[in-house]
Amino acid sequence: MKKIALAFIAALFLLGTPTVKADEGMWLPMFVKRLNYVDMQKQGLQLTPEEIYSVNNSSLKDAIVRLGGGFCTGEIISDQGLMLTNHHCGFSVIQENSTKENNYLRDGFWAMKNADEIPAGFSVSFLVKMEDVTKDILPLLGVELTEAQRAEKADSIINALKEVAGTDNDYDVQIKSFYNGNEYYMFIYETFGDVRFVGAPPSSIGKYGGDTDNWMWPRHTGDFTLFRVYADADNKPTKEYKEDNKPYTPKHSLPVNIGDRRAGDYSMIFGYPGSTDRYLSSYGVEMAVNIEQPAIVKLRRQVLDIYEAEMAKDEQIYINYADKQASVANYWKYFKGQTAGLKRLKIYDKKKNEENAFEAWVAKDSKRVDEYKNVISNYDQGYQELSKIILKSTYDIEAIYRVEAISLAWRGRGLLAALGSDDDDKKAKAIASAKSAAEKHFKEYSYTIDKQVFAAMMKAYSMDIPADQQPKMFKDLVAKFKGDFTKMADKIYSKSIFTSSERMMDFLEKPKASAIEKDYLYQIAKTIILEDYVQNLGAQKKVINEKLDNASRLYLKGIREMNPSKAYAPDANSTMRVTYGSVKDYFPRDAVYYNYYTTIEGIMEKEDPKNPEFVVPAKLKELYMKKDYGQYANSKGEMIVNFISNNDITGGNSGSPVINGRGELIGTAFDGNWEAMSGDIAFETELQRTISVDIRYTLFIIDKYAGAKHLIDEMKIVSDLSPNTSIETDVVKEEEALDAK
Ligand code: ARG
Repeated sequence: MKKIALAFIAALFLLGTPTVKADEGMWLPMFVKRLNYVDMQKQGLQLTPEEIYSVNNSSLKDAIVRLGGGFCTGEIISDQGLMLTNHHCGFSVIQENSTKENNYLRDGFWAMKNADEIPAGFSVSFLVKMEDVTKDILPLLGVELTEAQRAEKADSIINALKEVAGTDNDYDVQIKSFYNGNEYYMFIYETFGDVRFVGAPPSSIGKYGGDTDNWMWPRHTGDFTLFRVYADADNKPTKEYKEDNKPYTPKHSLPVNIGDRRAGDYSMIFGYPGSTDRYLSSYGVEMAVNIEQPAIVKLRRQVLDIYEAEMAKDEQIYINYADKQASVANYWKYFKGQTAGLKRLKIYDKKKNEENAFEAWVAKDSKRVDEYKNVISNYDQGYQELSKIILKSTYDIEAIYRVEAISLAWRGRGLLAALGSDDDDKKAKAIASAKSAAEKHFKEYSYTIDKQVFAAMMKAYSMDIPADQQPKMFKDLVAKFKGDFTKMADKIYSKSIFTSSERMMDFLEKPKASAIEKDYLYQIAKTIILEDYVQNLGAQKKVINEKLDNASRLYLKGIREMNPSKAYAPDANSTMRVTYGSVKDYFPRDAVYYNYYTTIEGIMEKEDPKNPEFVVPAKLKELYMKKDYGQYANSKGEMIVNFISNNDITGGNSGSPVINGRGELIGTAFDGNWEAMSGDIAFETELQRTISVDIRYTLFIIDKYAGAKHLIDEMKIVSDLSPNTSIETDVVKEEEALDAK
C-alpha cells in the first residue's frame, strides 16, 4: 500500500518537475532554482538559489564576466576588480605587447603596481539580468511563414523589444533564440571598456605542454592570466581606457579556497560557453565526419607546417605568429579529435536510433504526423544538398580566406566603393581607415610565410575542389602558370599591393580604383569570397536552410514533447550558463585509469630542454628542488597543478571559475579531454571531463614564482577543507586506506 502511494507521489513529482542530473547540461542560471537546485544540493551545494543568481541582491553571477563578445570567461577575485582568466585567453594581449626586448610571451609579465598595468584592448560584460521573452515572440511567428520569413519577423520583433528595454539606461541588450528557435531570452549587460593587463606567467608555464598536450589529460599547464577592470569615479563603466579611471569595485568577488580537496568535491562552473550542437542529426554527423572535418584538419596542418618552420627560424616571426599559430592549431587538433571521437563512440548510430524512436513516436498519432512528418526527410534532403557544396564552402574559408593577403584584399572592397563616390569626405575617411588597417596588418605580417601559404592553399583548392565548382577566373590563372603554384605565388606576391607595406602605403598616397581591380589577389577575393561564397553559396544555403532550420526546430520541439519529464538543456550560445558536478577521475580506455589531479612532479617528468613545449623555467625548478610551495601545497606536501571534474563546458568557457559548494573559487577551467572530443555534439557521461588549473598552483606562481604577493593580499583566502559529500571513487578510497596504514 505504502509502496503504491509512494510511487504515485513520485509519478506526480516527475510530471511536475522535469528530472535533471549532474554532468550533462549547460543550464540557464535563472532556472537553477526550479530545475537543478535539489540535485545540486544532493551533490554538495551549500548556497541558496538566491546566492547563485539574483537580480536584486549580489550573487555569484556578479563575479562572472564575459570577455569581449564571449571569446572567453573571467571571474572577479578581489574587491579591486582583479580578474582571472586563462593564459590562452590573454594570449593575444600578451603577444601584441611583446617585443624582442620585452618578450612577455617568453618571460611573462607582472605589474608590480597599478600604474604598470597595460590597457588590454578588450571589454568585459557583467550580466545584470535575463528574462524569458518567448511569449512576446513565438505567438507572432505563424505556421504559414517560411523559415526565412520566420527569422526575418523574429528579428524585427527582437529589435523592437531591444529598443524598449534599452531606452532608460545605457545597458547592452541581447535577445537570443534557444532550442533552435523554440524559446527566446533577453539578456541585459553592463559593459566595461577599460580592462588592463596585470600579469601572466611565461608561456613555459602558461602554455606548458603546448600543442602536444592541448586537449589532453593528464595535464600540467598554468593556463592563467590576470587583468583588472576599471571604472570611472562613480564606479560606472567607460567605453574605453581612461587614464584616471579607478579599479572597479564589484558587486561580488569570489573568495579563494586553498584547503585540501577530495575526489567527489562539489564543483560548479559559471561561464559563457560559445556553441554546441547536441541536437545535430545523424545526417549532420555524417557530413561532418566524412567531408567537413577532414578538410579542415588537412588544410590547417599544411598551414601549421609552414608557420612552424618559419617561426623556429626567427624570433620576431615567432612573436608575430604565435597567436595565429595557436588559433589555427587549437582547432586543427579539435577537429582531428572530434572526427575520431564521433567514429569511436559511434555517435552516428546513436543519433540514428534517437531519430528512429522519434519517427515511431510520430507515427502513433495523426496530429503528430501532421506537424512532424517532414522532419527526417527534410534532414535527409537538406544534408544531401549541403554535402554537394560543403567542401567548396569549407575551402573558401579555410584555404582562400586563410591567405592573409587575400583577406586584406577582401577588406579593400570598402575602399574601392568609396573611391567610386564623389563624396571627398567619405573618400578621405576610407583612405585613413585603410591606412590604419594596413599598418596593423603589416606589423605582424611575414611575406615569406604568407607566400608559401598562398601556394599551398591554391594548390589544394585546384586539386580538391570539383572542376565545375572552380570559377573560370581561378582556372585561367592556374592554366596561365601551367599548374606551377610556387611560380604563381612568386609572380603574384612580387607585384601585389596587398603583400608589401611599401607598395600599399605608396598606393594609399594616391589610390586609384584600377590598381585594386587589376590586382590578382583582389580578383581572387572578389571571385571566390564575394561572388562564390557570399553570393552563390549564400543563395544555395538559404534554400537548403529552409529544410534544415525547419527540421531542427521541429525535431527539438518534438523530442521535448515526446519526453515531457526530461529537462533538456539548451545548446550553448554565448550566454551565461552554469554546469555542476564533482571533481572526478576516469577510465579513458580499457584497463587505464586517470587520477583526478596532477602535481609538479609531472611537470618535471615531462621536462625536455630540447623541446620548446616542455622547457621548465629555472626558477620553477628551483622552487621544486626546495619544495618551496608555501601555503599552497596540500596536507601531503604535494603541489597540485591541474585537476578534472565532470562538468559540461565548451569553447568560450575558457577562464571560467570552478566553484565549490560554498561559493569559493577552487580552479580555472581551461580545456576538455581527448577521449570526449565529440562532446560538443554528444556528451559522454563516463568520459567527458573539464580540465582546470588548481587555484593553488595559480597562487603559488603569482606569489612564489613571480613575487607578486601584493596581488594575493587583495584576495580573500580561505584555507579550510573544501566541503564534500564524500562520493569518493573506489580507487581514491583504496588509496586513502593505504595511506592510513
Ligand atoms: N584547447 C583549449 C581551448 O580551446 C586551448 C588551449 C590553449 N593551449 C594550447 N596549447 N594551444 O580552450
